[in-house]
Amino acid sequence: LLHGKRIVVTAGGTREALDPVRYLGNRSSGIMGYAVAQAAIDAGADVILISGPTSLPSPYGAARVDVQTAVQMKDAVSEAVKGAQAIVMSAAVADYRPKDVRSEKIKKSELGATLSLDLVTNPDIIAGIGEPGLLKIGFAAETSNLVVHAQRKLKEKGLDLVVANDAEQAIGSKDNRVTLVWPDGRVEEMPLLPKEDVAPMLIE
Ligand code: C5P
Repeated sequence: LLHGKRIVVTAGGTREALDPVRYLGNRSSGIMGYAVAQAAIDAGADVILISGPTSLPSPYGAARVDVQTAVQMKDAVSEAVKGAQAIVMSAAVADYRPKDVRSEKIKKSELGATLSLDLVTNPDIIAGIGEPGLLKIGFAAETSNLVVHAQRKLKEKGLDLVVANDAEQAIGSKDNRVTLVWPDGRVEEMPLLPKEDVAPMLIE
């Protein structure tokens, strides 16, 4: 089915360092992206899996690139999409990162009762990819107005498909109920299923 096709999949959450021991992160498990990578391999594709920190085993046959931060993920994606036919961006990328990463551990004794952090925006990875002919598939995890937000992301990021899901239900969970939001206006609701079963439907 997908023999000779290269598919780039991102998975997991990014970690944005504050100091040598601390980071800002999110609850993404990586399960959805790893399942997508596995399903693409099962369909015959060559898969590059760009992964944030997770304890999941690599899908057999995937070329895996481990990253921590959004900026590292962007660099890895830019390399990987060369010659690829599709990217599935299931990673939960941090929107912001600390403006300065302290070289020493932040000390409570020097700061007192409150700590304010200056954050700067991270680059939008999938919106910034301009490979001609590359199919771009994004996710949208929302806490309300799922379809409206997904349709906006589809347009703003120039995507070919948005897989929308309920953030509170999906993130960190083994199961997912996804809604496929297509550029032609079609909205397809899928049932609640294990992520391993959602993934082959997405690849199809
Ligand atoms: O965070 P947001 O809801 O905008 O994410 C929608 C899609 O964009 C997801 O596929 C996510 O992986 C991707 N994204 C990205 N770079 C970012 C933020 C999100 O590629 N900085």
